[in-house]
Amino acid sequence: MNASVDLRRDGEIAVVTVDNPPVNALKHEVRAGLVEGLRRTRDDATVEAVIIACAGRTFFAGADITEFGKPPQAPGLGEVIAAIEAMPKPVVAALHGTALGGGFELALACHFRVAVAGARVGLPEVKLGLLPGAGGTQRLPRLIGPEKALKMIVTGDPIEAREAFADGVIEEIVDGDLTDGAIAFVRRIVADRRPLRLVRDRDDKLVAEGFADAAEVLTRRLRGREAPAACVEAVRNAIVLPFEEGLQREGELFRKLVAGDQSKAQRHIFFAEREAARVPGIPDGTKPRPMATAAVIGAGTMGGGIAMCFANAGIPVTIVETSRDLLQRGIDRVAANYRTTVSRGGLAAGEMEHRLALIHGVTELDAVGAADFVIEAVFEEMDLKKRVFADLDRIAKAGAVLATNTSTLDVDAIARATKRPQDVLGTHFFSPANVMRLLEIVRGAATAPDAVATAVALGRRLDKVPVTVGVCYGFVGNRMLARRSVEAERLLLEGALPQEVDAAVTGFGFPMGPFAMADMAGLDVGWRIRKGRGERNEIEDALCEAGHFGQKTGKGYFRYEAGSRTPLPDPEVERTILEVSSRAGIARRPIPPEEIVERMVYPMVNEGARILEEGIATRPGDIDVIWVYGYGWPVWRGGPMYYADRLGLAQIRDRLTLYAERSGDETLRPATRISRLAAEGRGFASPAPS
Ligand code: CAA
Ligand code: NAI
Repeated sequence: MNASVDLRRDGEIAVVTVDNPPVNALKHEVRAGLVEGLRRTRDDATVEAVIIACAGRTFFAGADITEFGKPPQAPGLGEVIAAIEAMPKPVVAALHGTALGGGFELALACHFRVAVAGARVGLPEVKLGLLPGAGGTQRLPRLIGPEKALKMIVTGDPIEAREAFADGVIEEIVDGDLTDGAIAFVRRIVADRRPLRLVRDRDDKLVAEGFADAAEVLTRRLRGREAPAACVEAVRNAIVLPFEEGLQREGELFRKLVAGDQSKAQRHIFFAEREAARVPGIPDGTKPRPMATAAVIGAGTMGGGIAMCFANAGIPVTIVETSRDLLQRGIDRVAANYRTTVSRGGLAAGEMEHRLALIHGVTELDAVGAADFVIEAVFEEMDLKKRVFADLDRIAKAGAVLATNTSTLDVDAIARATKRPQDVLGTHFFSPANVMRLLEIVRGAATAPDAVATAVALGRRLDKVPVTVGVCYGFVGNRMLARRSVEAERLLLEGALPQEVDAAVTGFGFPMGPFAMADMAGLDVGWRIRKGRGERNEIEDALCEAGHFGQKTGKGYFRYEAGSRTPLPDPEVERTILEVSSRAGIARRPIPPEEIVERMVYPMVNEGARILEEGIATRPGDIDVIWVYGYGWPVWRGGPMYYADRLGLAQIRDRLTLYAERSGDETLRPATRISRLAAEGRGFASPAPS
């Protein structure tokens, strides 16, 4: 047909195969080839049935996202689908890999679907701030009922072939070669003269019952986001409107979302996440080192979580502690974590046993000698880390990557404790390590390119989002967060209360405000560090002195009822804040939410600009990815640097200047990069997002 679409024959069966690496996105050439292939097979009286399949690693991963925002080129996906539905002979989609978005929608328009057991199908458009725009919201409810369809569409999570088979989404799971299986399947269809019934013509599953409740539950936490609401509307239309009308409304909703700010921001994050895997100075094709076994040193909060990441990815891991008791405690905590997941239905009991069996606990460091990748997660003390790395230098096998999970310490200094600094880097996981997807990979001055490539590859294998950063205090995420914390404290002194600050920040879209987050992490940790350094934070220190350590003591910046994690305003805290303000001679004033948001976000952007100036982060998009995956920055606002670009850096510059002058805090002065780009009318990203 063309360079992307091939048409061949197996006797009376036509096989249309698309080959558009890497993921068979439905770009224009593919659509044109499909329409042409379908036309020819329709007009050829010797063809009795058609199979649509894909070469390479997956069935269509969806529309080509790079085409969004550009002028549409005919034929659109709707025309491909119309050509399938108009076919007077059976059309079978043969699925492998991930049939996603427009790819799955195309399959839903076929008369039948067959798949290999490892295939997955889903409608992930909501993750790009969209809804399925090629009939998915109208066809899927007709196939599996509105309630289940809505769940798939609003979560965007794919389902496995077996589940899809059980639900009647696919008719057969093929063992062996997929195309051969699909051909055998369709020959039976032809021989049996099975009637051709399109999904669009079914309505037996379109029941409204339970739908409103399901919609409420699914969207409760997604306030502020346009796409999930549009998904609900579209699926409701499937129930109440005729097919064609529902389809038309779906198209209108899709066009509105695709042109909107939220989807643009989410598409930015999609590509930034993938771009982040490309690290400067590491040529494409650099081979990661072999990675069959791992070791973790320290079975504390982080070590246990990191060991789970390895086990979840099927990688055997040795975990080292200083005593049998501590080791047992760490492993018990891991087992308890898994049991909770099993009890919530997130993991099969057999799978839990399998994963636990991959974790091997020891008390002798010598046992890590066989590991390809070692991660140290002992206490945050430089001397201790240096000792551990000096020992690792003696014990670890040649070529093993030696990583530290430090959150603040100098990775280069740790590397110098070994005679192989080229093998040393930081892997900064976020707590809880088995849940949070961000992984900051800290590249030291001497780290070898293939060691970094190994860490990036490992990150992806652990289902993390790896972003490579340079060495500095706090790396990228925590260094920016520290700016926000300073400003949050200042807001309390000037007139705001913790609940007001948190409400403004959650109103902006964060899942949690800075003070609820501090309560969760525990206030005493920072207090002890400050005491050691002779530093003070007036409000937080006063709270700690009064036993407010956060959730663990039932009171911190907020109070907590027994057994609850809901932060409640605390009059005692309010009194403390007022006292500290008055001691400092500050005349308190009401601070509007808009100002709170600016002061929570702009100083972070400022620090991000300095981080870029220093080359600690490679691209503004890397910083955005760090904030979305590590700190709950609302993905539909695209990350702090993207957000700043959208507002315009002149505004950021002007407001930072104002806040610097008002507070006398010179660190709030706009970074050189902000001033320069603002003066040139540019943004961090070039070209700036429109
Ligand atoms: N369009 C364009 N490019 C795409 C793409 C798409 N739909 N999906 C993936 N790519 C690109 C990626 O940007 C990446 O490019 P680089 O190598 O240049 O960075 C490359 O394909 C490989 O992607 P991944 O690194 O993500 O590969 P993976 O194997 O880890 O994952 C995947 C594969 C599960 C398919 C994943 O890429 C994915 O989830 N893709 C997006 C799927 C999606 O959202 N589809 C819906 C599209 S919207 C739609 O279809 C609207 C509609 O209703 C018509
Ligand atoms: P933790 O105190 O929970 O665990 C540390 C464990 O290391 C303890 O169980 C201790 O017995 C063990 N240990 C100490 N010396 C050891 C040795 N020589 N050999 C083997 N085990 C040893 O600490 P946590 O929170 O897990 O932190 C570990 C590291 O991860 C620190 O560097 C910390 O800064 C970093 N980190 C912590 C995060 C968090 O949220 N807790 C987040 C990101 C990084």
